[in-house]
Amino acid sequence: MSLSYRGHRPVLLADFSRMAPDQVSVYVDLTAGGGGHAEQIARRYPAARLILIDRDKEAVARLREKFAGMERVTVVHGRAGEVDKWLFLLKVRKADLIFADLGVSSYQLDDPARGFGFKSDAPMDMRMDTTTGETALDLIKRLTEKELQDILSSYGEERESRTVARALKKAAAEGKRTVKEFRDAIAAAKRFRPARIDPATQTLMALRIAVNDELGEVERMLERAYVSLAPDGVLGVISFHSLEDRLVKRFFVDRRGQVPLPKPFDDLPPRPVTVLKAVRPTEEEVLVNPRSRSAKMRVLVRN
Ligand SMILES: C[S@@+](CC[C@H](N)C(=O)[O-])C[C@H]1O[C@@H](n2cnc3c(N)ncnc32)[C@H](O)[C@@H]1O
Repeated sequence: MSLSYRGHRPVLLADFSRMAPDQVSVYVDLTAGGGGHAEQIARRYPAARLILIDRDKEAVARLREKFAGMERVTVVHGRAGEVDKWLFLLKVRKADLIFADLGVSSYQLDDPARGFGFKSDAPMDMRMDTTTGETALDLIKRLTEKELQDILSSYGEERESRTVARALKKAAAEGKRTVKEFRDAIAAAKRFRPARIDPATQTLMALRIAVNDELGEVERMLERAYVSLAPDGVLGVISFHSLEDRLVKRFFVDRRGQVPLPKPFDDLPPRPVTVLKAVRPTEEEVLVNPRSRSAKMRVLVRN
C-alpha cells in the first residue's frame, strides 16, 4: 500500500478519524477517490473488511493499485446510490462505518483531459463515470434554453442565468466543443464579472452537478446507506455545496429517534439516532488544503 497522498489531500481527516467507532468490522467508502480516508481505516482496523466504491474508472484503477495485495479490500466501479446492491452482491449484510466525501477529487480537477477545469482544452465532458451517460456538451445541446437557465440558477446560483444559457446554446450551435471555448463564450456574454472567481465558475459547477446527477445521487446514497448500517453504525458525509449539505442535514434530522427495533420488539418505540454537530475545517487546514474551504461533515450514529 502506497503511503503518500500524491496530488490529493483527504479533507477533515482528523475529524473523520474521531467519528469512527471503536470497533469496525466492515467499512464502506461510497466515494473512495484517492483512498486517503480508506487508507486511514485500513491502518487503524487491521482486520476490517473495506469496500471501496467510486464511479470513476480511473479512480478505481488507482485504488486497486494502492490496495493491491490486501485481500480484505474490495474495490468496486459503481455508484454510491447503489450501495445496497453492491453489499448484497458481495454478501456483506451490514456496515459499521459508511462514509462519503462528495464532489470531485483533485485528480479529476487537475487532469485537463477530464474537462473539469475551466482552462481545459478538453471536450465539455465532465462525467465522473466516462463509461456511461450524457456529456456536458450533449446536455447543452439537448436541453432548451429555459431548462439550461433553470439548472444554472438553481445549481450554480448564477445571477445572469438567462444570458449565460443563451451563450451556451449559441456556442454549441457554432460547433464549439472545448471547456475553454465555452468558458470564453460565458465570460464574453456576462455583464457582471465577480472579482475573485472566474466568470464561468458557477456555470461549470452547475453543469457538472447536472451531468452527474449529483443531488439525485446524494438522495439515493443516503437512503441506501442508512438501511445498510449495523446497529451501532456510523454514517459520515462530507459535502462541499449548500444544496448537498441541505439534503444531508434534512435526511439526518428526519431520522432522529427513528430506528425501529428488530422483531419481536418492533412494536416498542424506536430507538434514537444521534446526529452530531456539523464539523468545518480549521483555518490551518484551509491554508494547507484550500479544497477543504467549503467542506462540511455531518455524522449520524445509530445507537
Ligand atoms: C472528493 S473525492 C474523494 C476523496 C477520498 N475521500 C480520498 O480520501 O481520496 C470524490 C470521489 O467520489 C467519486 N464520486 C462522486 N460521486 C460519486 C457517486 N455518486 N458514486 C460513486 N463515486 C462518486 C468521484 O469520482 C471522486 O473520485
